[in-house]
Amino acid sequence: MRIVIYDSGVGGLSIYKAVQAALPEHDYIFLSDNQAFPYGTKSEEDLLNRVHQVTHAVMDHYEPHLVIVACNTASTLALDSLRDTYDARFIGVVPAIKPAATLSQTRHIAVLATPATVERPYTKRLITEHAQGCRVDLIAAPSMVALAETKLRGEGVDLAELEKIMLPIKSDQSIDTLVLACTHYPLLKPEIKQVLGQDTHVKHIIDSADAIARRAMTVLSQMASEQGDKGQAPPTDAKQRVRQHTALFTRQENWSDEFLAYLEKLSFDQIDHIRV
Ligand code: DGL
Repeated sequence: MRIVIYDSGVGGLSIYKAVQAALPEHDYIFLSDNQAFPYGTKSEEDLLNRVHQVTHAVMDHYEPHLVIVACNTASTLALDSLRDTYDARFIGVVPAIKPAATLSQTRHIAVLATPATVERPYTKRLITEHAQGCRVDLIAAPSMVALAETKLRGEGVDLAELEKIMLPIKSDQSIDTLVLACTHYPLLKPEIKQVLGQDTHVKHIIDSADAIARRAMTVLSQMASEQGDKGQAPPTDAKQRVRQHTALFTRQENWSDEFLAYLEKLSFDQIDHIRV
């Protein structure tokens, strides 16, 4: 089947890595809406319009069977309306607050996210429904998105900036669980661990990637059995011929050698551009 994994930027690659490792037999289109990057500081109205425009374009060109909205900022806003509008199945990435509440012994969790995700009613609902009795500190970290982008382009990571972002977490000894609620942030996990230090009180650093991979496995096997029930063969035909692993961008850029090597390591054999 054809799976689209969609984000504003390279953050979606943290989800792609987990899903593709769990389900290597499918065709993948990683779609970065780099033209409209970043999403985390956009108004709800602008972002909703943009997500629909991009989804419309990708549906039209690639007819995916499954779309993973690999962006907390977009999923916490647009998932319901995407499901209502298009035929494909959608999986959204949302802050891993429920597993964090299960893991935390001290009942004190920090959540790093974009400013938009921090403000979303969806995020507040996750806390009310799944983190009863926990103190949850929501921390907006928009500059961390750019740190992940520059890292993958081979420009290194500004550790002093990361140190500033992590200060409220480092200075509160009772926080034992940290949620990375933006798909860009897991790309900085080694640097986050370095900044926290070896003797840190933060015992768990969690993100949604593995849970999304498990969810994708369930959804795809449901879809295969639904097709079997209808006596149909699993879908293989594409409106447009798609190579196995395509990295798709809404704006053409001069990619650095480091970024191209990174994409190749993740088994992308084609880099393309889509007009939105
Ligand atoms: N990676 C996205 C997320 O998970 C958003 C990054 C951005 O601000 O564009 O929220």
